[in-house]
Amino acid sequence: MKRRILIIGASGQIGTELTQQLRLVHGNDCVIATDLHQPPVKSQEEFFEILDATDVDAIKRCVLKHQVGTIYLLAAMLSATAESAPRKAWDLNMNSLLCVLDLAKDGLIDQIFWPSSIAVFGPTSPKKDTPQTCVMEPTTVYGISKLAGEFWCSYYQRKYGVDVRSIRYPGLISWKAQPGGGTTDYAVAIFHEALKTGTYNCFLSAQTALPMMHMTDAIRATLELMSSDLSSVNQFKAYNIAGMSFTPEQLAQKIKAKLPDFKIHYDPDFRQAIADSWPSSIDDSEAGKDWKWSARIDLDHLTQDMLDNLKDTLANS
Ligand SMILES: NC(=O)c1ccc[n+]([C@@H]2O[C@H](COP(=O)([O-])OP(=O)(O)OC[C@H]3O[C@@H](n4cnc5c(N)ncnc54)[C@H](O)[C@@H]3O)[C@@H](O)[C@H]2O)c1
Repeated sequence: MKRRILIIGASGQIGTELTQQLRLVHGNDCVIATDLHQPPVKSQEEFFEILDATDVDAIKRCVLKHQVGTIYLLAAMLSATAESAPRKAWDLNMNSLLCVLDLAKDGLIDQIFWPSSIAVFGPTSPKKDTPQTCVMEPTTVYGISKLAGEFWCSYYQRKYGVDVRSIRYPGLISWKAQPGGGTTDYAVAIFHEALKTGTYNCFLSAQTALPMMHMTDAIRATLELMSSDLSSVNQFKAYNIAGMSFTPEQLAQKIKAKLPDFKIHYDPDFRQAIADSWPSSIDDSEAGKDWKWSARIDLDHLTQDMLDNLKDTLANS
């Protein structure tokens, strides 16, 4: 029998869409979704279990019970939320990763996906077209945990032959589930508010350019990396991937072109300092070279897709 896929942290922004896509590819009963909270999408309640990413014994029991071969570990505390509980964020982000790495080291599972982030970069990294390898001095607890996690992945790969793959996601934009407390969340909230109230109060300044990506591209990148031949994977820390780069003002202009009465105000808060420490754009040529990665969705396509789908969702809610 084909070994199953376990998703830990499946009810969040990425997990909701990753679960759906993995079930399309592998079949519903092949994908066990788990989280501390029920999934936001009713149709995903089947093959769902409550599981705490920090409970090593419970994860091990779940792996054995369902004959799991692959784990996607998505549970984490994100950049903005982590700043208010640094020790808690460190414990969750690190302990859950070490737990699944040990399961692979002990031969219980074959493959792991663990997402990293552009937060591994810091103010001393090149800001524009930030390369795969450069100076990395993150200033947030989230970035520190992601960078340490990348080193753990590469250590377990080198020392124990663990097949662990990772991507440094940029800010992800989607309409199926709400984002979970990151610094790029404004790029989702702006669409909700544009449709609901016609006005958005942005927590970043007008000119803050950040790397972003449509969720569809991010899920495709994840599945493409995971199904790539091991011999083509040369980067066991995490791959840079790029979609697009824009400022709040540029995004607001795109929305205004569709909704002429839309208004945006800028009122930067503590998240501005986090955004200022991150790259404005990313060089993803290594991912292109190794597993032929290339993004498909640009800002015009993203704006249209978000407005169309959220309009329908709001009309039906
Ligand atoms: N969304 C983005 O823009 C983005 C960008 C870069 C990296 N990432 C990374 O991708 C991963 C998933 O991100 P996301 O946006 O889906 O986050 P999210 O906050 O939307 O979802 C995380 C999920 O983990 C669950 N969770 C939290 N603590 C848990 C625990 N102890 N046990 C089990 N589940 C727990 C939460 O309930 C939530 O459903 C994270 O590692 C994040 O750092 C996300």
